[in-house]
Amino acid sequence: MTSTDQQPFLSIKDLKVHFSTEDGVVKAVDGLSFDLVRGKTLGIVGESGSGKSVTNLTILGLHNPDSTTVEGSIVLDGDELNGAPEKTLEKLRGNKMSMIFQDALASLSPYHTVGRQIGETYRKHTGCSKKEARDRAIEMLRRVGIPQPDVRVDDYPHQFSGGMRQRAMIAMALVCDPELLIADEPTTALDVTVQAQIMDLLKDLQQEFGTAIIFITHDLGVIADIADDVLVMYGGRCVERGTKEEVLRDPQHPYTLGLLSSMPALDGPVDVPLSPIPGSPPSLLNPPSGCRFHPRCAFAEKVADGLCSTERPPLEVVDGRGSACHLTPEQRRELFADFAGSRQH
Ligand SMILES: Nc1ncnc2c1ncn2[C@@H]1O[C@H](COP(=O)(O)OP(=O)(O)OP(=O)(O)O)[C@@H](O)[C@H]1O
Ligand code: SF4
Ligand SMILES: [Mg+2]
Repeated sequence: MTSTDQQPFLSIKDLKVHFSTEDGVVKAVDGLSFDLVRGKTLGIVGESGSGKSVTNLTILGLHNPDSTTVEGSIVLDGDELNGAPEKTLEKLRGNKMSMIFQDALASLSPYHTVGRQIGETYRKHTGCSKKEARDRAIEMLRRVGIPQPDVRVDDYPHQFSGGMRQRAMIAMALVCDPELLIADEPTTALDVTVQAQIMDLLKDLQQEFGTAIIFITHDLGVIADIADDVLVMYGGRCVERGTKEEVLRDPQHPYTLGLLSSMPALDGPVDVPLSPIPGSPPSLLNPPSGCRFHPRCAFAEKVADGLCSTERPPLEVVDGRGSACHLTPEQRRELFADFAGSRQH
């Protein structure tokens, strides 16, 4: 391990991604910062529409420059990607950084065999021969657990089951041994057994290649399984971050507390009553003032002077741990005690 291994491999600073639409400006990501080192997995969790996919598509440069404004900094292995020429980004995509998309079928072409699609990605970045590309595709299909890969390499996507297509997409994302892998809900559509196999596969590949992984999910159970660190997003902002243990065992933000209360304890009794977070996610066209969570927060009235609805709580991060909430640590200890009690066993 070299001394640079603990330097952030990916560093996002004050990222803002705004879309111009007919109805106005959608502030999909609004001041997001985080770091990721090599060989680690960052879990990003948050409700639908919180900006998880937009953040990661922007890292890859896959946004429409005509209707999207991107501010802030995206540094990958020392290079600034925000504003980098499309040619540079294209070179990096699939090679240094790659993504497993939310929808496997939409990202595989129906007109080419699975093997050709995987092989062509490899050939484009390495300039190898067609024979070498095919061999590599077979090797990758074997690695992701496709039976008879030397035969299935010639199948078209529709000849694969849903789980196999997802594996094929993972094979394609990993064919060039990317140093950064972004997995956007890669297992949501799959049954539990296949989900578990794919998670194991990602862990194995990470161990083998030291890949840095961003894993996006709604599911805190998945986070508990795969992540080292966790970033909780709400309304285009980070509301809490820390190690997996810190965030799941000792949440510091009412929204994280709400997420945890809406799922069974990870290793606790299953008969604890669950309470989903009341209300709906914020509009990103006209986001709530102050703390974006205030219209849904059960604790907003505990903060003096109506601060929750007027002032944005800053995200103060010390040693990678932080949350954006006006409550004092003492208030949190007191108010969150019930939650901790219900999870003790
Ligand atoms: N091209 C676009 N133009 C306008 N608005 C957009 C565009 N792309 C995304 N959005 C909006 O940005 C917000 C964030 O979307 P995003 O896809 O990042 O959510 P998400 O957290 O990935 O949700 P999910 O869990 O449902 O996948 C949403 O309100 C979405 O409607
Ligand atoms: S700042 Fe106020 S509204 Fe926001 S999470 Fe904290 S207590 Fe709730
Ligand atoms: Mg998404």
